[in-house]
Amino acid sequence: MSFDFDEIIDRQNTDCVKHDGMKLFLNAEECLPMWVADMDFKSPPCIVDAIKKRLEHEIFGYTIRTDRFFNSIVNWMQKRHDWEIKKEWISFSPGVVAGFSIAIENLTEPGDSLIIQSPVYFPFFQTIISTGRKVIYNQLKLENGRMTIDFDDFKSKLSPNVKMLLLCNPHNPGGSVWKRNELEQLAELCLANNMMVISDEIHADIVFSPSKHIPFASLNKEIGEKTITVMSHSKTFNVAGLTTSFVITQNAEMLKKFNKGLHIPHLHMGNIFGTEALIAAYEQGEPWLNELLAYLKNNIAFLDNYLKNEIPILKLIVPESTYLLWIDCRALKMNSKELNEFFIQKAKVAINEGSMFGTGGEGFIRINVGCPKAIVEKALNQIKIAVNNI
Ligand SMILES: Cc1ncc(COP(=O)(O)O)c(C=O)c1O
Repeated sequence: MSFDFDEIIDRQNTDCVKHDGMKLFLNAEECLPMWVADMDFKSPPCIVDAIKKRLEHEIFGYTIRTDRFFNSIVNWMQKRHDWEIKKEWISFSPGVVAGFSIAIENLTEPGDSLIIQSPVYFPFFQTIISTGRKVIYNQLKLENGRMTIDFDDFKSKLSPNVKMLLLCNPHNPGGSVWKRNELEQLAELCLANNMMVISDEIHADIVFSPSKHIPFASLNKEIGEKTITVMSHSKTFNVAGLTTSFVITQNAEMLKKFNKGLHIPHLHMGNIFGTEALIAAYEQGEPWLNELLAYLKNNIAFLDNYLKNEIPILKLIVPESTYLLWIDCRALKMNSKELNEFFIQKAKVAINEGSMFGTGGEGFIRINVGCPKAIVEKALNQIKIAVNNI
């Protein structure tokens, strides 16, 4: 490997949520931080160099995004996802949650219903509720160790008031990379019910072969017209703190409405370093990403084997995507509060307890293995001791 993912970097006292926010948000002390979805690896050298170069100019006034920004996205989508897009389809967003929030507020009306597939990243339902829309839950199923879509339930939830699907593609938590036939069925149902789709594809680049990410909007022109995709290089290249993301839609009317929502509070201005990072990542970051994927895959396999051999009461839902692992802890027979306390106070591993991801999350935890393998091993040893002491 040309990049060192084994290096243990002290992130304490850098004001990072994952390490320095543990006490504040989880009441966790002296825990291994394996919750918030960022990684404990350095960002790729190409990004650091691009930021340093810009920093040396020493003037950080308002900036514009030039063709390089848009072209780097167009080329990345073509190269990594076989998706041919036009730069006119792209707009900026300060974050992916910000992007889908703006889209919900500007493309739907208060009182409209939106479908989400739980358990899911919690801002999905929080945003819908806080913008005065209604949440319709289409709970995922666990089938042969994979989270899958319950299409019968989905169909039964459709009505004229259901205006939109907020899709997580790939899915967090559980790491399902939706397959073409799954996406096509969803597309068909959404078209038949005249629904729009927001596809959150923030995890698109952290997909393990042989799985392959398929942008929902790329399925066909008809569904592309109904879809707005929200994406970012932020998870992939560990630059979430630079608050730079983007949306893509071929539907000019939808883009216009989105841009109106973006421009009113002047959120379109963005962040100079975020722009530099995105361009560097998409122009030069591929070798680093390929090595990252191999490293993460190894961490996941290590955890899976460790559970099977040493803590068989816990079962990994082997992910097709993401470094956020969904672990079935139902055999421990603990409620949500007990599970949380068990991992944080007894095992001293800061995790996300499953019920925070909504219906279907009870009895599960989400653990982040975007860190050196030695940390994963330490966490597993601590969990094993805690389980043996029950
Ligand atoms: C599915 C999904 N969407 C969005 C985000 C957050 O994106 P942002 O920080 O750009 O709002 C996350 C972070 O974990 C996520 O998993």
